[in-house]
Amino acid sequence: MADLSINFAGIKAPNPFWLASAPPTDKAYNVIRAFEAGWGGVVWKTLGEDPAPVNVSSRYSAHYGKNREVMGFNNIELITDRSLEINLREITQVKKDWPDRAMIVSMMYPCEEESWAKVLPLVEATGADAIELNFGCPHGMPERGMGAAVGQVPEYVEMVTRWCKKYCSLPVIVKLTPNITDVRLPARAALNGGADAVSLINTINSITSLDLDNMVARPIVGGRSTHGGYCGSAVKPIALNMVAEIARDPATHGLPISGIGGISNWRDAAEFIALGSGSVQVCTAAMLHGFRIVEQMKDGLSRWMDEKGYASIEDFRGKAVANTTDWKYLDMNYQVIAQIDQDKCIQCGRCYIACEDTSHQSISQLIADNGARKYEVIKEECVGCNLCEITCPVEHCITMVPQASDKPYMNWTQDPRNPRAVAA
Ligand SMILES: Cc1cc2nc3c(=O)[nH]c(=O)nc-3n(C[C@H](O)[C@H](O)[C@H](O)COP(=O)(O)O)c2cc1C
Ligand code: SF4
Ligand code: SF4
Repeated sequence: MADLSINFAGIKAPNPFWLASAPPTDKAYNVIRAFEAGWGGVVWKTLGEDPAPVNVSSRYSAHYGKNREVMGFNNIELITDRSLEINLREITQVKKDWPDRAMIVSMMYPCEEESWAKVLPLVEATGADAIELNFGCPHGMPERGMGAAVGQVPEYVEMVTRWCKKYCSLPVIVKLTPNITDVRLPARAALNGGADAVSLINTINSITSLDLDNMVARPIVGGRSTHGGYCGSAVKPIALNMVAEIARDPATHGLPISGIGGISNWRDAAEFIALGSGSVQVCTAAMLHGFRIVEQMKDGLSRWMDEKGYASIEDFRGKAVANTTDWKYLDMNYQVIAQIDQDKCIQCGRCYIACEDTSHQSISQLIADNGARKYEVIKEECVGCNLCEITCPVEHCITMVPQASDKPYMNWTQDPRNPRAVAA
């Protein structure tokens, strides 16, 4: 059976599944039940300066799919609303009772060296395994000069990371904000400041929906609203890309990454790990489905690893990084063509409409006298865009078939059609 245990930047955990800093980790009561359910670690809800911030009511909103499934989740909560003393006491006790689980303490303090110098020894004294710097909170805290206001300025990221390494001997994980043009810059800054790892992503600035009767966005606080932090399934593609950007950046090569953003099942986790993450963090999925989802995550990942012959997480971590490249290095001679399995086709016509109206008019629609319809791909016209395959409601009905070719690999920098071709 596959070994799920990890050693992430010196932080040991029985499995890579950690709860991200958020309501699931904001008190001992929750964290203990999370550990009982099997989570490998937690990042404790972000600690800050006393007096603790005060939250508003209401706080969350969602972006729903057709059947009211939550695709994206939005919150306007701040960091912990409990005192530092209570949090430190609980962290100490929980770590003592659960020594094999990773206990990471998330922190957000003003950009003043004395604040960090004062609090870091207190956090270290809890026996926690590491700290995570919350440079990502996109609402409320930036207005106070913290959170994303720090994470968006690489010089600040580097400076605060350096202070943390100076005043504390624990591994320092820098949590990055996605609300930035190039996520590699704060990641490089974190590394320059001495960070042991980065984690990403924190939430994305968002407004999920409006109450059009009252002309106000959600969540509504006394008739008004504000932008919140977006997370959940919908952000996974953005998070995966940012993780990949850092994993394949030569400047941050080898820097441990804790992947976060929309992870809801073992497959999501495996994808983050394949792109270089050494641990994964989950928030929204646990908030929507409870702590027990970790059972399926561990089980699924372990079965899949057995199937593939991966004995440990390290065996497949980062395996997809080398295959993630810049567009200019893709093979211009590679060609796929759509193929419809007539036995599976239910003649709904969606592929035809999609290709006819917005792609390459490469699907023919034949309507017999009795009204029966038949859809066929016109091979000579198909450019292999995948649109019909994406549109088709029947799984594996349309497949994209690679075409045999005797042409060698040729990328855009080598392509004679490229007026600015330069040797790769
Ligand atoms: C209600 C809520 C509160 C959060 N509070 C914090 C926080 O205090 N500190 C922090 O670093 N991230 C916080 N986050 C962000 C999560 O840790 C995580 O980065 C984000 O939700 C993406 O993961 P997910 O898609 O699994 O939810 C919060 C998220 C939610 C939904
Ligand atoms: S792959 Fe694209 S071009 Fe080819 S049939 Fe499908 S939609 Fe049309
Ligand atoms: S979308 Fe799929 S099921 Fe519908 S007609 Fe096209 S191939 Fe058949």
